[in-house]
Amino acid sequence: MKSLQYYINMQKTEGFSPYVVVLKEIGEVVGVCGFNPPDHGCDAELMYHFKRAHWGNGYATEAAGACVNYATQLESINVLGASIDPENTSSENVLSKLGFYSVGEKWCEQTGQNEPYYKKEI
Ligand SMILES: CC(C)(COP(=O)(O)OP(=O)(O)OC[C@H]1O[C@@H](n2cnc3c(N)ncnc32)[C@H](O)[C@@H]1OP(=O)(O)O)[C@@H](O)C(=O)NCCC(=O)NCCS
Repeated sequence: MKSLQYYINMQKTEGFSPYVVVLKEIGEVVGVCGFNPPDHGCDAELMYHFKRAHWGNGYATEAAGACVNYATQLESINVLGASIDPENTSSENVLSKLGFYSVGEKWCEQTGQNEPYYKKEI
């Protein structure tokens, strides 16, 4: 509940936050996609996680692309960052398809490992 309130406040104050992705045809939440707070020299971090049963349908690329387009409308975002699980090549593919480029690694507190880090100027 605390983190939900945190993200609701973030949307109100910053104009961006994580969002749920709903498959319209069946009304099911299939994943989340949106923005985490700024870190590592970027203005916001692109994030996406989808239920495994819905991988391989292009949903991540479509949702993340829509978020990048939305970010271009916000004056506060000029640089987007994104980190990925190094084991997950699909995740890296999503970023390449959206024009992100590699800028090294970032320590991730949640996973306890260094993760590849990407950026995109918008
Ligand atoms: C990252 C993650 C969302 C990627 O899921 P995904 O299903 O592989 O990614 P997409 O939805 O973009 O789909 C990719 C594939 O769908 C295929 N596809 C099938 N139908 C499609 C369609 N109609 N349109 C577009 N692509 C389609 C594409 O060919 C593509 O394969 P390719 O990348 O080899 O070209 C998923 O692995 C995940 O949730 N991982 C855990 C969390 C994570 O790593 N998050 C990232 C950091 S925050």
